[in-house]
Amino acid sequence: MTDNRPIGIFDSGIGGLTVLREIIAAAPYESTIYFGDNGRAPYGTKSSDTIIRYSLQDMMFLNAQNVKMIVIACNTASTHAYDALRKVCNVPVVEVVNPGARAAVQATSNGKIGIIATRATINSGVYESAVRAYGAVIPGLEVVSAACPLFVSLAEEGWWDNEVAYLTACEYLAPLKEAGVDTVVLACTHYPLLAPVISRVMGPDVKLINSGVAVAGVVKDILESEDIISDGIDVVRRFYTSDDPAMFEKIAAPFLGSGLPAGTRMVQVDHYDVTGLLR
Ligand code: DGL
Repeated sequence: MTDNRPIGIFDSGIGGLTVLREIIAAAPYESTIYFGDNGRAPYGTKSSDTIIRYSLQDMMFLNAQNVKMIVIACNTASTHAYDALRKVCNVPVVEVVNPGARAAVQATSNGKIGIIATRATINSGVYESAVRAYGAVIPGLEVVSAACPLFVSLAEEGWWDNEVAYLTACEYLAPLKEAGVDTVVLACTHYPLLAPVISRVMGPDVKLINSGVAVAGVVKDILESEDIISDGIDVVRRFYTSDDPAMFEKIAAPFLGSGLPAGTRMVQVDHYDVTGLLR
């Protein structure tokens, strides 16, 4: 059956646009609503309880927009809040960890995989477990994890490939280089924005895994299996941020391209009461 309701996508800020871009490329006929919680970012330095509460509020905002699916376009929120959302959400919820982990295992040739993410994602151990589970068949699989918290600020600032970004990347990526990883999972949706500088440091032969493409594949599969594909007439792209819309659009525009985002509105989601949803 045709279902013209939009797909809801949220992130702590602009990082989720790396996922939105792939969803638009894979399913251009689907309407989308994007919420970036820039006013409360970063999530990656917060406690698990706070990440869960924020994510439930983001979900409630998107549900109020009558979405047909919710994509958690944030690894930190996926690792900490996916279970909480899945239990209470009445539409399908897509997370970003498993698609990224699977893609990394498929990409590696030498069985040495690096994972870079926020501190909250690395400390949860969820990503490393997922890579180890998918890579169980790889003899001598090595996984090297590194938290790169400053990458989020660099991405939000639009400092994607300058000298500050380069020196920061040299420092954070040293253990991965030393271990000789041939694949690096960008396990934070902000990091694909820094892919050029990460590649400059790691070298051209090291594969960078951006889970956005794999996530878009999962979204398409669900649209088909649930029979909720749009008819593609009157496609809308709506953007919301909990901080300054002008700033949001300035940083996002060069990345999303083709006149997007436009008409971004500011919205606060702290008033959504999630106490009844926390079990
Ligand atoms: N985009 C988020 C992620 O994928 C991280 C940014 C943040 O720390 O809020 O983990």
